[in-house]
Amino acid sequence: MARTPAELVGTRTGPSFEITFGDRTVPARPGQSVAAALWAAGILAWRTTRTTGRPRGAFCGIGQCYDCLATINGQPNRRACLVPAHPGDAVVTQEGHGHASLG
Ligand code: FES
Repeated sequence: MARTPAELVGTRTGPSFEITFGDRTVPARPGQSVAAALWAAGILAWRTTRTTGRPRGAFCGIGQCYDCLATINGQPNRRACLVPAHPGDAVVTQEGHGHASLG
């Protein structure tokens, strides 16, 4: 019988929880990054480029490309591929450079 990835590495996973992406509820698991949770829910793009408005989501997945920037719990410019998801996290599409409120 095939073992799951969690069984292969000997980890124990906790119960799933929920985060939100805008108005949408997204399931997440302990240890999962925000980007992984969004991907698992079929959300592949969560911001647009500043000048041309092209869609962006996770690209490198290791914190190098900055394509995955999102506003998480009110903080802009968070790299979703590096931020562990926590119950109740609120993720929204980042507008522009993320600091429009500064003027
Ligand atoms: S996907 Fe490249 S920095 Fe997050």
